[in-house]
Amino acid sequence: VTLTACGGGFEAPAEGGTDATGGAGAPEAETVFKVAFNQNADQPEAVAMTNLGERLAERTDGRYTLEVFPNETLGAQKDTVELVQSGTVDFALVAGSLLENFNPDFVALNLPYVYDSQEHQEAVLNDPEITGDLFTSIEDQNLRVLGGFSAGVRSVYNSSHPIEAPEDLDGLKIRVMESDTNTRMLDLMGGTGTPMGQGEVYTAIQSGVLDGGENNESIYANLKHAEVAPYYSYTKHLMIPDYLITSPAVFDAMSEEDRAVFLEELEVAYEESSELTTKVMTESQAAAEEAGAQFNEPDIEPFRTAVEPLLDESLTTDTAKDLYDSVRAAAK
Ligand code: GCU
Repeated sequence: VTLTACGGGFEAPAEGGTDATGGAGAPEAETVFKVAFNQNADQPEAVAMTNLGERLAERTDGRYTLEVFPNETLGAQKDTVELVQSGTVDFALVAGSLLENFNPDFVALNLPYVYDSQEHQEAVLNDPEITGDLFTSIEDQNLRVLGGFSAGVRSVYNSSHPIEAPEDLDGLKIRVMESDTNTRMLDLMGGTGTPMGQGEVYTAIQSGVLDGGENNESIYANLKHAEVAPYYSYTKHLMIPDYLITSPAVFDAMSEEDRAVFLEELEVAYEESSELTTKVMTESQAAAEEAGAQFNEPDIEPFRTAVEPLLDESLTTDTAKDLYDSVRAAAK
C-alpha cells in the first residue's frame, strides 16, 4: 500500500481516513504503512507508533513511514486482523484475546492474574526466548506478531452498583473482548460475559443491552463509559497485551536493513508507550471521577479463586502450558 504525501501536507488516501476523519497525519515517505487502531490518537500506543513512523522515515531516508488510523476508522479489531491477513491494511494493534482465534496457545499470555505487574508483563512480551515461536506461529495464516505492548490492567464496571464480591456480578451482562476465554472468565467471575467490539459498548450499556464492561481506566474514561456505568471496581483480573501484527508479505518486502531499523525503533516505541501508559492510567482515574465515576477496591482473592478453573480449561497443549510456566517463572 503506497500513499503519497505532498507539499508538506498530507494527501488523503483513496480509501481510509484523512486527518479530519481519522488519520493522525504522517510524515512524507514513499510508502506510508497504514496502522489500524481502535482507540483514539492520544492513547499511548498510537502516540508511540506515530513517533516510530517519524523515526522510520528519517532512518530509511524517506522510504517508509507509518500512519495510525485510530478510532476503529479501519474497522473493529476483529475486522482489522482480517484486513492485515489479506494485505489490505499493513499493520494493526490488536488485543491478544483476538489472536487466540488463530492459535489458541496465545491464551497463556492472556489469562487472568498471570502477570504480577506491568514490568513483569513487558519483560515477558519482549523476551524472544518466551514469545519468539508464538509470534511466528501464525505465519501460515498470513499473520506475524512483531511485538507486544502492555495495555494496562482491566477491571469491571457497571451501571448498577459497586462490585465487592463475585456474587455482586450475578445477573449482570458484562461486555468482554471477542474471545471464548474472556466470556468464560466473566461467567466464572459471577456475571455473564457478552463478547462485542469496543465501539458498540457505550450505546449497549446506555440502552440496557449490557450492564457494563471491563477495561483499563484509560478506555473507561476516554470512551466516556463512566457516564453510563459509573461503578468501577478494581478486580484487576486481566492484563491483556496489545500486539502489533502485520503480514509476512508486507514486512519482508522491506530490505533487511530497513526491517532491522523498524525493529530497533519498535523497541523504543515499547518504552515510550510503557511510560505513557503508567501516566495515562492515573490521569484517567481522576478524569473518570470528575465525570461521576466511583471507584472501589474489592478483595481480589475471591475473584482469583473463581477464575482458577480457566487455567486447566485453557492450557490444553504442552506449548501453552510451557508458555504459562515461563511467564510465571519470569515473575520471580
Ligand atoms: C484495551 C486494549 C484494546 C482492546 C480494548 C477492548 O483498550 O488495549 O486492544 O481492544 O481494550 O476492550 O476492546
